[in-house]
Amino acid sequence: AEVVIVSDASVAGGVVADEIVRVVRSRPDAVLGLATGSTPLPVYEALRPRLGGVDVSRMRGFALDEYVGLDPSHPQSYRSVIAREVVEPLGLDPARIRTPDGSLEGIAHAGEDYEAAIEAAGGVDLQILGIGTDGHIGFNEPGSSFASLTRVKTLTRQTREDNARFFDRIDDVPMHCITQGLGTILRARHLVLLAFGAGKAEAVAGAVEGPVTASLPGSAIQLHPHVTVLVDEDAASGLR
Ligand code: F6R
Repeated sequence: AEVVIVSDASVAGGVVADEIVRVVRSRPDAVLGLATGSTPLPVYEALRPRLGGVDVSRMRGFALDEYVGLDPSHPQSYRSVIAREVVEPLGLDPARIRTPDGSLEGIAHAGEDYEAAIEAAGGVDLQILGIGTDGHIGFNEPGSSFASLTRVKTLTRQTREDNARFFDRIDDVPMHCITQGLGTILRARHLVLLAFGAGKAEAVAGAVEGPVTASLPGSAIQLHPHVTVLVDEDAASGLR
C-alpha cells in the first residue's frame, strides 16, 4: 500500500475528494464505495465545495454495510446516514445510491441481491474505507473469510461499544449487520483506507505491516494491488 501521513483529517479529506472528482470527471457514471462512521466525514465535507461544475447526476454509490433490524427511517440506519451526509449535501440521485437491505423481510436475499447490483454497475471504482479498533473493514469482524461476499455478521462487543456513541444506550446498538465481504471489497479497483487518532494505531499497523490474517481483517488490503492509506501522525504511530 501507498501510505500517506497527513497533518490532520481535513487534509486527508481534501486529498480523497480531489481523487473522487478526478474519477467522476473522467467517467460521470463512476461507482463510489461509501463508508459510514466518523472517519469519512471530512471526505464528504471536502467534496461539497469541489463539485461545482461537476456532473454528479449519473454517479453511483454502494455503502459498505447496514445494521440488521433497524428501521430504514431510524436516524442511525446507514441508509439514513448516507442520505443525510452524502446524498443530500452533494446533490446525488438517491435512486443511484444503495445500501444493503437490513430489513428482516429482505435478509434471505439481501446479500446476493447486493452483490448482483454491484456487479451490474460494473464494480466499484474507488472504495472509501475506515477501520475499526478491532481491525474490521466494512463490518468484517476478526475471523471473516478473505473470500467472503455480502452477508449477515454479528458485531463484536468492541464494535458495539465503539458505535454506542451514535445511540442512546449500548443496548440500542444492533447485534447484527449486513456487510460487503472482504472478497467484495477486494474487487474494488482502488481502495482508500483512512484512519485518524491513536485509537486506530494498532489496527493500522496490523493492516499495513502485520501478517495477512483473518484475525485482523484489514490486513486483507495487502492482497490488493492498488491501495492508498491516509493516516494522521497518531494513527501512523504504530508503523515501523
Ligand atoms: C462503516 C464501516 C466501518 C467503519 C469503522 C470505523 O461503514 O464499515 O468499518 O469504517 O468501524 O468507524 P469510525 O470511522 O466511526 O471510527
